[in-house]
Amino acid sequence: MKQIIIDGGKTLNGEILISGMKNAAVALIPASILCDEEVEITNVPNISDKKALINIIELLNGKVTEKDHTLYLNTSTIESKTIPENLASKLRASYYFMGALLGRKRKVEIYFPGGCNIGNRKIDFHLKGFQLLGATISMENDKYIIEANQLKGTSIHLDFPSVGATINLMLAAVKAEGTTLIQNAAKEPEISNVGELLNKMGAKISGLGTNTIKIEGVNYLHKASIKVLPDRIEAGTYLIVGALIGEHLKIKNIIKEHLEALLSKLQSAGVPMEIYDDYICISKAKNLSPINIKTLVYPGFVTDWGQPITVLLTQCNGKSILEETIYENRMAEVPFLNKMGAKIEVEGQTAWINGPTPLIGTDVEATDLRAGASLVIAGLIATGKTTIKHVEYILRGYERIVEKLTNVGASIQLIDIE
Ligand code: EPU
Repeated sequence: MKQIIIDGGKTLNGEILISGMKNAAVALIPASILCDEEVEITNVPNISDKKALINIIELLNGKVTEKDHTLYLNTSTIESKTIPENLASKLRASYYFMGALLGRKRKVEIYFPGGCNIGNRKIDFHLKGFQLLGATISMENDKYIIEANQLKGTSIHLDFPSVGATINLMLAAVKAEGTTLIQNAAKEPEISNVGELLNKMGAKISGLGTNTIKIEGVNYLHKASIKVLPDRIEAGTYLIVGALIGEHLKIKNIIKEHLEALLSKLQSAGVPMEIYDDYICISKAKNLSPINIKTLVYPGFVTDWGQPITVLLTQCNGKSILEETIYENRMAEVPFLNKMGAKIEVEGQTAWINGPTPLIGTDVEATDLRAGASLVIAGLIATGKTTIKHVEYILRGYERIVEKLTNVGASIQLIDIE
């Protein structure tokens, strides 16, 4: 087991370089299965979710080589083997092997996907879409068996613009016969990154970034290279750190337009920032005004920023409100923040945060990835020592978090305990 120990209260300055987007990388790796030749993916973040996906590709008889942050994936010899429980349940994104293997091999056997426990996280839209494309789905214990003799283009309307369902159905439809329309599709940049790779392989996908995606099926996908876009959630996490304890902290390698919803809230709170297209210089605000936030689908305020920004709201002068609209259980960090001195009340999916409250270091636990990020921020601004247990969750999605924060002046260590 690993723990993070933080000695809080240090001012941070210098530069933090943002890594590739976790939620695009975890879809691009399974998407490579659709390619009949070799795929190169650059700027891949070195996070534990990546390793889990590579293990699955290797199990399916694909070949993966890695050099620095680049992956070379040759899946020309891919086989449709059962993806066992111990691999499928390691992460949510194992479900992208459903769409990719269905598209490539017309058969998938996979145990339930895992991932952070932040709500129901049903996959009914994915399964309904596969059925509309012509697949049959059966369940054996905790295993899905998805098969199709033939996949035929169709029209699919999503009840909600789900990121996972949009990507998974795009993967399944790329090699279907005829044209597929995904309506009420999600517009997140992660989806466009995956669509761009598929188009570079020779797929015919249009409407990426809009709520209607059109996919004209093709038979063969040739070799291609793609760069993973910068991680907007990681960038947002460090911007929140900068707003609390930064002194000209430079957050580099960002795409400004992916961060607009967060920047607008930081501006309303009174955070001083110099904003450029690919970097932002941010400093601690003298006086933070309270703000109200509602999480939404892109281009709204992304749910993944909700937990990190809760810490900033504890330092605002007055009452702030955070309403989480995407997941039922995304406030698991609140009892720990309250243990550190915050005054947060939660009812349903809404939190009322009374600030400002000084935070005091103590022992806390990461219960999911973004809850863990929230506790790291709390530890950085707290007085004294904070010990965070179960940091495996954090390492699933934040590349070299300890090194990045140490380089700008934080006192933070990652230790192995028995
Ligand atoms: N939903 C359904 N049925 C479905 C699919 C989704 O009811 O078939 C519901 C979900 O239960 C949820 C909502 O729709 O309430 C949105 O889910 P979505 O499918 O958009 O999310 P996801 O694909 O499971 C991805 C990211 C999440 C991120 C969300 C929203 C990955 C692997 N995960 O999840 O990332 O919060 O999109 O942007 O890409 C994280 O990185 O910490 C994380 C949880």
